[in-house]
Amino acid sequence: MQTVLVTGGAGFIGSVTTDQLVARGDRVIVVDDLSRGFADNVHDEAVFVHADLGDRAVVESLLANYRPDAVIHFAGYIAVGESVEDPGPYIDRNVGRSTTLLDCLVSNGIGNVVFSSSAAVYGIPGRVPISEDEAKHPTSPYGWTKWAFEEVLGFYEAAHGVRHVALRYFNAAGATSTRVERHDPETHLIPNILEAARGGKTISVFGTDYPTPDGTAVRDYVHVSDLADAHLRAVDYLINGGASTALNLGSGAGYSVLQVIEAVRRVTGRDFPVDLGARRAGDPPELVADPSRARALLGWEAMQSDLDHIVRSSWDVETPKA
Ligand SMILES: NC(=O)c1ccc[n+]([C@@H]2O[C@H](COP(=O)([O-])OP(=O)(O)OC[C@H]3O[C@@H](n4cnc5c(N)ncnc54)[C@H](O)[C@@H]3O)[C@@H](O)[C@H]2O)c1
Repeated sequence: MQTVLVTGGAGFIGSVTTDQLVARGDRVIVVDDLSRGFADNVHDEAVFVHADLGDRAVVESLLANYRPDAVIHFAGYIAVGESVEDPGPYIDRNVGRSTTLLDCLVSNGIGNVVFSSSAAVYGIPGRVPISEDEAKHPTSPYGWTKWAFEEVLGFYEAAHGVRHVALRYFNAAGATSTRVERHDPETHLIPNILEAARGGKTISVFGTDYPTPDGTAVRDYVHVSDLADAHLRAVDYLINGGASTALNLGSGAGYSVLQVIEAVRRVTGRDFPVDLGARRAGDPPELVADPSRARALLGWEAMQSDLDHIVRSSWDVETPKA
């Protein structure tokens, strides 16, 4: 039986990944400080350690105690706009406290790190679909922290032999029968459109003059279950001796904001007000993955990332039945 440490396992993607690890029979240790997560997101059969990764004594002792074969590192702050307004906590958590985790891994002789990186490392890409070799010019402090920690992982491999896979997610979305997307504040498009469809609010579209077919920004939406599956494959890849790498995780298909709004109208049968507004600073016009490297190396494919399926999975779980 493999033991996997999941940091941030009380959050959205970490909880779904924990569910899949438990389902295949791995022993899972979740560490989360619940700063942005929810205790009821942690699978009953996982060991839950309520702690901050910056707490070196606790992290050292849990590593010594459970001796994980691999670590999946989700823990961090994730809101681009918040990182622009107040970058300090992002640098502290996503780089500083994450490096404390690496130091504890090194002192316990543990390697094999799967890291939650982001398409935000690319900034405004020169070429779409985006390959992993595209230049890294993040346009927000959040994106910079993700790229900085990828570089830290490279330094720790050179100095201490810590092997890693950085998974650069495009837009995580969708829900499973037990887990829904819950962020506070919720800055992601699909949960906000679903809220509008439930009658809660007007949906704002930021920018209608991008160089895209309908003028609104284009993104690549990938179902959270597909993302979780890639983590299990990346853990196995590292445990089997795979070399460190970075992989894009996206469906390879792009949808504009207006296309997502139409998908929500189609799936829910509801209409809602839409406010067409100005661009937000730093938002790239188009982010679509070239996921071919993940396919070649992990045999991974986004199987559940059809846009209507993503929307329906969230709508069915989150909307109380009449
Ligand atoms: N959601 C997306 O679309 C997306 C896209 C690209 C990358 N990512 C990355 O994926 C990861 C997970 O994203 P998510 O949507 O599940 O976020 P989330 O906010 O739901 O989960 C993050 C979890 O980390 C915990 N945490 C934060 N700092 C911690 C610390 N110092 N010690 C212990 N726990 C801590 C939070 O309490 C939370 O439960 C993040 O690293 C994020 O940057 C997410």
